Amino acid sequence: MKGIILAGGAGSRLYPLTLVASKQLQPVFDKPMVYYPLTTLIEGGIREFCLISTPQDLPRFRQLLGDGSQWGLRIEYREQAKPEGIAQAFLIAESFIGQDAVTLILGDNIFYGGDSFQKAFGGFTSGATIFGYHVNDPERYGVVEFDAEGRAISIEEKPRQPRSNYAVPGLYIYDNGVVALTKAMKPSARGELEITDVNVEYLRRGTLRVYRLNRGFAWLDAGTSTSLHEASAYVQTIEKRAGIKIGCPEEAAFRRGFLSLEQLDALTGRMPKCEYREYLAEVVAEAKRLAHPHVA
Ligand code: G1P
Repeated sequence: MKGIILAGGAGSRLYPLTLVASKQLQPVFDKPMVYYPLTTLIEGGIREFCLISTPQDLPRFRQLLGDGSQWGLRIEYREQAKPEGIAQAFLIAESFIGQDAVTLILGDNIFYGGDSFQKAFGGFTSGATIFGYHVNDPERYGVVEFDAEGRAISIEEKPRQPRSNYAVPGLYIYDNGVVALTKAMKPSARGELEITDVNVEYLRRGTLRVYRLNRGFAWLDAGTSTSLHEASAYVQTIEKRAGIKIGCPEEAAFRRGFLSLEQLDALTGRMPKCEYREYLAEVVAEAKRLAHPHVA
């Protein structure tokens, strides 16, 4: 399974924050926003990534994430010259996807809790898998409608009159057929290749699965100053209460076995003195204790 992180767009709703750094580079409490979706995919076992962004912003992402080897990953970069829709990602990243299945995550979507994604990645064989999450304001999103048996029966993009409260979060899993399907698609009225049209086509073919994310799960988007602030407050609250970090790619790569304990230790040692380093040092110390329980 390959992973695409789409971190494009003008971020106009975050103006003037986005005059010099793109939305997905803005801080969500103690880390850049893009760390969160990246970590979500690492936790799901994905190791090969393609990050797509605008020509202006790509150099910053490269500076931040490099080629991924420091975390046991491989990260490639591609440009989206014009914002022509989320589904355009499959055309831009065609050579990266190759013959594989692919997960697309939007760079401003933050998820926390449960193992629904890990299960969905692990159990994925063909077709498409998307998710439904109960929200207050479904008209802002793709909206999925279910029948009495819980089967998805319609999906609409930002409907004025939503048929349900279930929004489709920005994490989508597709088989390799998504590339050909996208090539055959026409842009919408607003000139974009819509991800909802991709999902509607899988639904029409009878190969779309929609999992409802349960109440214990948090999905935040950070596209406006208010939601950005709320996302930061949420992350801070959980991190403080539980003594863990959300969206820490180093830790996720270690727990997934992409980084050895020695590698994580060395990586941590190279960080400047800060809370982030202290946290990872604690992860390392705990892992050492567990590996050698009888050493004082
Ligand atoms: C996009 C999709 C929408 C989805 C949302 C999730 O909307 O078009 O279907 O529900 O992401 O964040 P956008 O954020 O581009 O308005």
